[in-house]
Amino acid sequence: MNHHMTIHIPLSAQGIRLSTHLAEAGYPITADCGGRGKCGKCAVTVVSGSFSSTPDGKVPAIPDDSGKLLSCRVFCNGEAVILLPVSKGSGLTAPTERPSAAVPYEACGVALDIGTTTLAAALVHRTDGSILRTTSRLNPQKSFGADVMSRIQAVMENEAHLLTMQKLLLEDVRAMLEVLTDGHTVSHMTVAGNPTMLHLFCGISPVGMGTYPFTPVFTDTKVLSGKDLGLPADQIILLPSVSAFIGGDLTAGMIACDITNHAAPVLLVDMGTNGEMILYTGKDHGDKLYGTSTAAGPALEGAGISTGTGGVSGAVSSVVWNGVSLQYETVDHAPPIGICGSGLIDLVSLLLLRGIMDETGYLEEDPFPYAEKLTLTGEDIRAFQLAKSALRAGMEVLCETAGISPQDLSALYIAGGLGQYMRMDSAMQVGLLPDCPKQILQGVGNTALRGAAMALRDPAWVERITADARRCETVALNLSPSFSDKFMEYMLFPEVET
Ligand code: FES
Repeated sequence: MNHHMTIHIPLSAQGIRLSTHLAEAGYPITADCGGRGKCGKCAVTVVSGSFSSTPDGKVPAIPDDSGKLLSCRVFCNGEAVILLPVSKGSGLTAPTERPSAAVPYEACGVALDIGTTTLAAALVHRTDGSILRTTSRLNPQKSFGADVMSRIQAVMENEAHLLTMQKLLLEDVRAMLEVLTDGHTVSHMTVAGNPTMLHLFCGISPVGMGTYPFTPVFTDTKVLSGKDLGLPADQIILLPSVSAFIGGDLTAGMIACDITNHAAPVLLVDMGTNGEMILYTGKDHGDKLYGTSTAAGPALEGAGISTGTGGVSGAVSSVVWNGVSLQYETVDHAPPIGICGSGLIDLVSLLLLRGIMDETGYLEEDPFPYAEKLTLTGEDIRAFQLAKSALRAGMEVLCETAGISPQDLSALYIAGGLGQYMRMDSAMQVGLLPDCPKQILQGVGNTALRGAAMALRDPAWVERITADARRCETVALNLSPSFSDKFMEYMLFPEVET
């Protein structure tokens, strides 16, 4: 069920874009397309007052029949009252497990994973590495766009947004620490995140990563004092990045999967909006590391799909064919509100298997109804094809550069919630994964948080991945002719064997 927040727009916001005003004031507005007027997620309902289509207030903005306006397309024009939809689950999640009274907070550290979408943190006993408590919430910067590029663009447009985004983030991190530590100061905190999130966390401009040649201000491990950021931790360690698009979230994943301890080749992939991946050739196969990232788009995270949603309550998370019809399951068994990545992969694989969609992605029935009031369109399929093709081509080019075949992999670790929930058979069926033995596929969950937690227990890990991040060779997919060939090839779905 959707809730609404009533918001009063002050006179002082005159001439400011409504979405900018809401974001700067810290309201949980969603702006997936970063204010391009495409996603419709920033819509608000006007209760009283009016808005304008131009900053000078001369052209009135006309709400649609239900009184809604896209807040990214209009400017404040005097006092007004609006309703902002707030989805369930946007707040702090209930922390798991309370530490027993006997836990000495001096012996604990906090691991933090700053995801572009979600923040997750854990209270960790530093002696044995056990996770005592976890908490998560949505990244408050989502009001500046769903993906990394929109956040960078927000700073390019107005430098002041850097401090606003840092402030929003640190306020939420502070609140999460409060929940985890009951107000105690911890000695150490480790932070994993993609390079843009790490830059924003410490208030360093990410604009160098917004355009070619995509240069971050820093990639190495960074040690800060909690005082610098107003956080109750003596020392804050930012895990190292490899390049502008391969960050501390993936290097933390290297710790969690201990990838450089394998004798044979292993691949670690995070299937986010930027599919980030690191390949280790194995101790017995040259001991080399290669990394790359590929612009997959947000389809597998539920964004950019007409009825897409994150893995929240009511998201269709799995779809099966029971011999007669499609059957679906939703998160929390709640009434369906949309489809998330794992459900989408299942659905597309079934459409292919049932002959409702052909290998080119053409849908016989467009839009195709998959649940009450929910449909999938041909355009959604196109977004899905772009994502799966970019990811598959990226993985294959990385293997090719390292001189190995996907068949040689001894493990393919798929990080993130998607890896944990997607059905591997469906992922193979739609051609998302390279042609490798099925038994090597492993969904490994939030390896960024786990790796950051492991780094708290043993500082030797930080030294090891700092060195590994430095020696990891970045593969530029845009310069690889093989990537464009493979990308075209994998836009198609595999032929269905009859
Ligand atoms: S339509 Fe306004 S942010 Fe996407």
